[in-house]
Amino acid sequence: MKLMLAPMEGVVDHLMRDMLTQVGGFDLCVTEFVRVVEQRLPNKTFYRLCPELHHGGMTPAGVPVRVQLLGQHPQWLAENAVTAVELGSPGVDLNFGCPAKTVNKSKGGAVLLKETETLYAIVKAVREAVPSQFPVTAKIRLGYEDKSLAIDNACAIAEAGASQLVVHARTKTEGYRPPAYWDWIAKIKQHTSIPLVANGEIWNAEDARRCQLESACSNLMVGRGALAMPNLARCIKYEEAPMTWPEVAQLLIRYSGYEIYGDKGRYYPNRIKQWFGYLRRQYREAAVVFDEIRRLNDAEQIVAVLARQSSQHLVA
Ligand SMILES: Cc1cc2nc3c(=O)[nH]c(=O)nc-3n(C[C@H](O)[C@H](O)[C@H](O)COP(=O)(O)O)c2cc1C
Repeated sequence: MKLMLAPMEGVVDHLMRDMLTQVGGFDLCVTEFVRVVEQRLPNKTFYRLCPELHHGGMTPAGVPVRVQLLGQHPQWLAENAVTAVELGSPGVDLNFGCPAKTVNKSKGGAVLLKETETLYAIVKAVREAVPSQFPVTAKIRLGYEDKSLAIDNACAIAEAGASQLVVHARTKTEGYRPPAYWDWIAKIKQHTSIPLVANGEIWNAEDARRCQLESACSNLMVGRGALAMPNLARCIKYEEAPMTWPEVAQLLIRYSGYEIYGDKGRYYPNRIKQWFGYLRRQYREAAVVFDEIRRLNDAEQIVAVLARQSSQHLVA
């Protein structure tokens, strides 16, 4: 079984990838999307979203990080894909699942799921441009408004030469509302032999096993679940118990050091509150601490609350 950490724009940046891959269990990460319009992007754009490119395209724990591109123009996507691998990305992933409005106005992401031929043209152009030793992969939802093109889209992506397909088992219209329709991944599997990765609504090891059964797919991608339970990948792979709250509190303190050092603390208060939003789902204690920090905008004050939390639990 291979486990991938999902791309999450504005949430899973290089610091979060570093932290979660150090906790362990992941085989591959995908970056937040790089938006491609009608130009060849400067190298700095790639380095900003994927600083791991300075280190052979790996997190400090040695997990490969694949750059993800989002856009609608086959040729521009192809040119920028070449840049990504030249800079050290171990392959390129194409985003056909993003529901954001601004993205769809400029026609990237999930809106392309209505245009099977465009999906084919994009994957084919990128596959032809990128040297064959680098995987070109794609990530889709089951459709835009309905699932009628799910199988055609997956087959088109496979025929165009993609090496792997991640399926977030919901339509764009279904957003992030449970359930995820894992059985649709099994339907897709009956029509194409492209290696599939199942994604959506995996919050614990039991969900992962049900997803594997219903999707007939052993490889999984997890996103929000890994933020809610930082050792989710290890729970799935090695049947480890979920981290205890004191362990999570220690991790939060470590993350605080990274974040503040990383960008001088400017984004830290928002980032940590965002992470608590996910942790609250799994840990009762996170809700209590979140109440304490929600109005704080000063990094040092927030860290002080976390440090107190962590030491209280260690003493207890
Ligand atoms: C805040 C947020 C940002 C996301 N950003 C991206 C992205 O940049 N690229 C992408 O392909 N998917 C993106 N996704 C979708 C996730 O990769 C994933 O498919 C989705 O969250 C379902 O998986 P999960 O239930 O394990 O979270 C994002 C999801 C969220 C919640």
